Amino acid sequence: MQQKTLTEAKKRLFRGEIVIFPTETVYGIGANAENEDAIKLIYKVKKRPFDNPLICHFANIREIKTNFILKEKDIKLAQAFWPGPLTLILKKKKESKINAKLSNNQRLVGCRIPNNEIALKLLKNLDFPIAAPSANIATKTSITSIDDLDINLKNIFSIDGGSSVLGLESTVVQTTQVGCKILRLGSLTIEEIKKKFSDYKIEIIESNLSPGNQLKHYSPNKDIRINVKNVLDNEALLNFGKNNLKSKIQNLNLSIRSDLNEASHNFYNFLNILDKSKCNRIAVAPIPNHGLGKTINDRLKRAAYED
Ligand code: TXA
Ligand code: MG
Repeated sequence: MQQKTLTEAKKRLFRGEIVIFPTETVYGIGANAENEDAIKLIYKVKKRPFDNPLICHFANIREIKTNFILKEKDIKLAQAFWPGPLTLILKKKKESKINAKLSNNQRLVGCRIPNNEIALKLLKNLDFPIAAPSANIATKTSITSIDDLDINLKNIFSIDGGSSVLGLESTVVQTTQVGCKILRLGSLTIEEIKKKFSDYKIEIIESNLSPGNQLKHYSPNKDIRINVKNVLDNEALLNFGKNNLKSKIQNLNLSIRSDLNEASHNFYNFLNILDKSKCNRIAVAPIPNHGLGKTINDRLKRAAYED
């Protein structure tokens, strides 16, 4: 990526425009988090309802402490997993300049420090944080490559940072007296949190409490059938591991060696490719329900949901 592109992105953010940029999880659509009009623009292009708040991205924890109240457990999680795929729900200080529209006028805001060189370079050169949801139309799949960008978002200035290293969104966490609540499963696994904080009571909120947890979400245009034992004539196959499943239309394997890191990295890109194939539906092989597999299954369940 050229310095010129970064300078142009900065200029646009300063002017109140929106910019698509890479993170280690998925691509984001960013705006100046202190600029209400810029934030409104994100909601508009994404067709996202205002009651589903955006995540605020920072360059370092010092800036987060200026704007938010961090409890002891917040600081511990932050030190363990930032920069990285952890979004902490924090209470905004009264004097913070972060715009209220970012979080639907609520003081609880999702914050994170991304672990991506381009994102961090961008953030370090701005004197405001970046509000950024994933770079997709609401209810559609996140993207991990600029090539997968929705046609309706192609006119937005974007920085190509190659394919996202992790491939699944950040894990949204809120600390409690006794541990933490997982509001959205993501790239940071419950196992990783437990390993570092074995005394924490970890609660997974399966409901729609996190506004982005709507049942129909993260979905391609084609229908999805999950946990398949066979593949039908009109179906493309999203496979996992070694087995006898086969599609007559198109076959992609998330990870032949059953590696969940590799599967997460490939997940959205492969869904996007199969979505464009000549199938009527995408059949998905069973994915083990632990670690990152739990997050993949969460996304698949929402993608397969019929309303
Ligand atoms: O990895 C990621 O998190 C990416 C990259 C770009 O950072 N961003 C992302 O943002 O996935 P978005 O807006 O697509 O998803 C944010 C999730 C949603 O499920 C939203 O409801 C939840 O975080 N969230 C944000 N603020 C919240 C809050 N104050 N309380 C509860 N949930 C919140
Ligand atoms: Mg999203």
